Amino acid sequence: MTVLTKLMPPLSLLVFSSFLMCRFTLCEEKAPKIAIIGGGIGGASAAHYCRELFGKDTTIDLYEAEQVGGRLRTITIDGKKYDSGGTILHPRNFYMKNFTKMLELDTVDHKGGVLGIYDGKEFVFTGSKYSLVMLSKLLWRYGYDVIRLNFFIQDLLSKFSRIYDLQDQGMAFTSTSGLLKAMSPKFEEMTHISTKAALSEAGFSEKFIKELVGGALMSNYGQTTNVQGFVGSVSIAGAEPGLWSVEGGNNRVPEGLIKEAKVNLNMAVVTDITLTGKQYEVQYLNKDSSSPVKKAYDIVIIATPFHQDSKKVNFHGFPETPKTYQDFHRTVATYVRGVPNISKFGQQRLDDLPTAILVSNPNLIFNSIGLQRPVDKKYRNPDGTVDKSHPVYKVFSQEPLSDEQLGELFTTIDSKDVVDWMAYPHYKSSEKLLNFQLHDQMYYLNSIELAASCMETSAIGGRNVALLAYNRWFGIQGKIDNLPKTSGGKTEL
Ligand SMILES: Cc1cc2nc3c(=O)[nH]c(=O)nc-3n(C[C@H](O)[C@H](O)[C@H](O)COP(=O)(O)OP(=O)(O)OC[C@H]3O[C@@H](n4cnc5c(N)ncnc54)[C@H](O)[C@@H]3O)c2cc1C
Ligand SMILES: *[C@@H]1O[C@H](CO)[C@@H](O)[C@H](O)[C@H]1NC(C)=O
Ligand SMILES: *[C@@H]1O[C@H](CO)[C@@H](O)[C@H](O)[C@H]1NC(C)=O
Repeated sequence: MTVLTKLMPPLSLLVFSSFLMCRFTLCEEKAPKIAIIGGGIGGASAAHYCRELFGKDTTIDLYEAEQVGGRLRTITIDGKKYDSGGTILHPRNFYMKNFTKMLELDTVDHKGGVLGIYDGKEFVFTGSKYSLVMLSKLLWRYGYDVIRLNFFIQDLLSKFSRIYDLQDQGMAFTSTSGLLKAMSPKFEEMTHISTKAALSEAGFSEKFIKELVGGALMSNYGQTTNVQGFVGSVSIAGAEPGLWSVEGGNNRVPEGLIKEAKVNLNMAVVTDITLTGKQYEVQYLNKDSSSPVKKAYDIVIIATPFHQDSKKVNFHGFPETPKTYQDFHRTVATYVRGVPNISKFGQQRLDDLPTAILVSNPNLIFNSIGLQRPVDKKYRNPDGTVDKSHPVYKVFSQEPLSDEQLGELFTTIDSKDVVDWMAYPHYKSSEKLLNFQLHDQMYYLNSIELAASCMETSAIGGRNVALLAYNRWFGIQGKIDNLPKTSGGKTEL
């Protein structure tokens, strides 16, 4: 063989790469047809990023069975609207923050609340609306754990923030564990150990874990410190100041994103997905029609979780049935307009009753009780706080509450509204995570919920599946599952 032929790439490779170029870039005349199933914040984020990546000529159809916003919606009580479902955002939820800004929506500052931790008999901890008083009270009860918590959260957030850089660089991940590992190998490990064990290993005291961490988990996820450590840690990040929500309701973000992305919104239930050659045939039922319709797509993004109560979508023609099932946890939200029974909580005056009541005992009839903020400015005090004269309290519980049970918690009940949610995964101490990629060009955004379910992770999942679809469509292999090198392999947290 001459040097020349050695230097030349083998013919087969040349043919192959020009085929690739033809298939994926140069001669690709038709843009892919994309279906997104689900119009919650996840599907809306996927729509936004698909439009950004694939450009204006790509067909994007978004199917929504009930209401755009999904688990983000508002409830109207006595003429005032309140967030129902996803309510509280963290200051470092950068996608939610950017979407809010891009859509020119205002934010609501969630300050001025008073935290209390109730054990069924009394408050083991009562905070203060003044941050310095609050801090000294925390230090008094939990000592160095308060400082440890601050380091823990800062470390968690700085690792979590890596996902924004990675996604800005176009990196995509086919599995949830891959996405977690890219932020920090420790994150993936934390999904295999209980929160209790993870935090105790990190040096936190039993009292701190039981009261503050347990209370936050019962309120955020209706579950105990036996849940895996990643979601448990995400849950305590809310102990930071600067919590916020969207003026007018958090659901305005998915509504705005879907409009902005100029997708075809189809109010319909998807019932079947069939693999037909290189395409996917999506079968759906329009809201106002009884005969099913079929449409073929190159890319399908499933943006809803499949759990014990979800609408069933049947898969046909796949070499193996895609793994999508997640066991979900029920949380009942009861909105009570009325006056709490202060003697039940061992208080003398209503003014002394904490506005956010967490529980350190997971066996009470309720998971948390919180004074609610109307989403409209005109119904809040100038400093953003809520008037206690016409209060609405949200009681979270595992089961619907009977009138007797509610009567114990409130002395006066002017009205009662109930929203019964299949809310988020029922987490295990060690989780078997699912994949984003179910087939060639079929993706499951909500696999991310088994790591941690919140608005921001759904937004991140939405960008991940959009990037994954894009990278695969154009054969950008280097930006798929390309884990960043760890520095020396040593990770704290
Ligand atoms: C009570 C409660 C409190 C919460 N509190 C917070 C909080 O304070 N902060 C926070 O960040 N997160 C919170 N969350 C979690 C947060 O609301 C969710 O993680 C997030 O809204 C999930 O968005 P999603 O788009 O992934 O899913 P969803 O919002 O569930 O969207 C899925 C959509 O798909 C539609 N759909 C389903 N099946 C089909 C089908 N076959 N065909 C067509 N459409 C279909 C559904 O109608 C739905 O609209 C809370 C959730 C609950 C329930
Ligand atoms: C938010 O938007 C700004 C510009 O509008 C951008 O520079 C920044 O990277 C965005 N942040 C994230 C996390 O996407
Ligand atoms: C309030 O709570 C106390 C203490 O649990 C209870 O004895 C009382 O019956 C309750 N009041 C009402 C009106 O239910």
